[in-house]
Amino acid sequence: MKNLHKVVALSAVALLSLTACGSGNADSSATAGGASASAANGKVANADKPLVWFNRQPSNSSTGEINMQALNFNKSTYYVGFDANQGAELQGQMVADYIQAHADKIDRNGDGTVGYVLAIGDVGHNDSVARTRGVREALGTAVKKGDQIVSDPTETNPGAVQEGKVGNFKVVELASKEMKTGAGATWDAGTAGDTITAWEGKFGDQIDVVVSNNDGMGMAMFNKWSKGAGVPTFGYDANSDAVAAIAEGYGGTISQHADVQAYLTLRVLRNALDGVDVMTGIAKADEAGNVLTDKDYRYDEAQRSFYALNLAVTADNYKDFLDATVPYAPVAKQISGDKFKVWLDTYNSADNFLGSTYVPLLQKYDKLLNLNVEYIAGDGQTESNITNRLGNPSGYDAFAINMVKTDNASSYTSLLAQ
Ligand code: BGC
Repeated sequence: MKNLHKVVALSAVALLSLTACGSGNADSSATAGGASASAANGKVANADKPLVWFNRQPSNSSTGEINMQALNFNKSTYYVGFDANQGAELQGQMVADYIQAHADKIDRNGDGTVGYVLAIGDVGHNDSVARTRGVREALGTAVKKGDQIVSDPTETNPGAVQEGKVGNFKVVELASKEMKTGAGATWDAGTAGDTITAWEGKFGDQIDVVVSNNDGMGMAMFNKWSKGAGVPTFGYDANSDAVAAIAEGYGGTISQHADVQAYLTLRVLRNALDGVDVMTGIAKADEAGNVLTDKDYRYDEAQRSFYALNLAVTADNYKDFLDATVPYAPVAKQISGDKFKVWLDTYNSADNFLGSTYVPLLQKYDKLLNLNVEYIAGDGQTESNITNRLGNPSGYDAFAINMVKTDNASSYTSLLAQ
């Protein structure tokens, strides 16, 4: 699997030299030297302006199928996210390794069975689905339908799991649930905190491990119950508070390299606006020396998607990850060039990962990349709460969009196509 990624990454880089993308504004020869069009001067049609989808890949929330129409909205459209399957595998492995390494005390009631509970973020978000599958696969609790691991919560589908095995222990998923508010906001930390109290009441010392699709929910459960009970809790995102909690018994988390993603989100817009090769400052160094390597990300040309690679953060290495909001050193050099105006939204102002890690990183990179970014945060429930605030797309040079629901790309593109 890992080697496969390498091959894909390498061939993607090779392909790119053949398919260097100009911007929607002008070709590279016309804009070399930086005298780019726009600065919202009305010359470029909104439909031709650079567009980056990030964190939520336009896709069918039931089947996971990528919405290539949205990714091909214009020739300067891309997705920036991270490699969900590679990260999910790491998360599952991290939990399984922990169980093996702590075999002497993990089984709290000594019944030979390790019981875990699982907080699910959003059943229609492909990153969330991948994490649920990764954990079930590594712990042996996965059930397949066709060739796909079932990712339903046991709350709605009790047959979604089977008894698993790690080392000498049987493993059971005692419960899993999508952490969603009554109003529909997903990945909800408050709901996770309430749920762990209910699960504790129901399962007591059968719960040996707590797993979460992200740190926001993981930390809510840790602070509410598992820290006091000494039950290892695993999340995803490597938010600063979760990394610090590893010193207090949080089991571990996965860095999805938000420092690389936030850079890529703004960098591909910058490159398109400058009319230069999209790989400038990414696969090949820019004038300031910013450059990434294939350890940091891979690019999938067919999906027009950049995927940052993940790293496990555990008691062994967490001290290197204590501040999640530091720009990544290989791409943290100031560049020169015109200022451009970018409109950027996050789907939910209450999302821990986006709010405490991703946006603070973006705010540092926007300065390094000379972009003037307007940040909008939604309510996590309705697309219109966000799109209502895109009343004047002509006032911006480029757009970075994080949807409430992965199905809803057209709510945005229809505004830009007018
Ligand atoms: C993060 C979650 C976050 C979600 C929002 C995921 O990539 O891991 O923490 O809530 O994105 O879309």
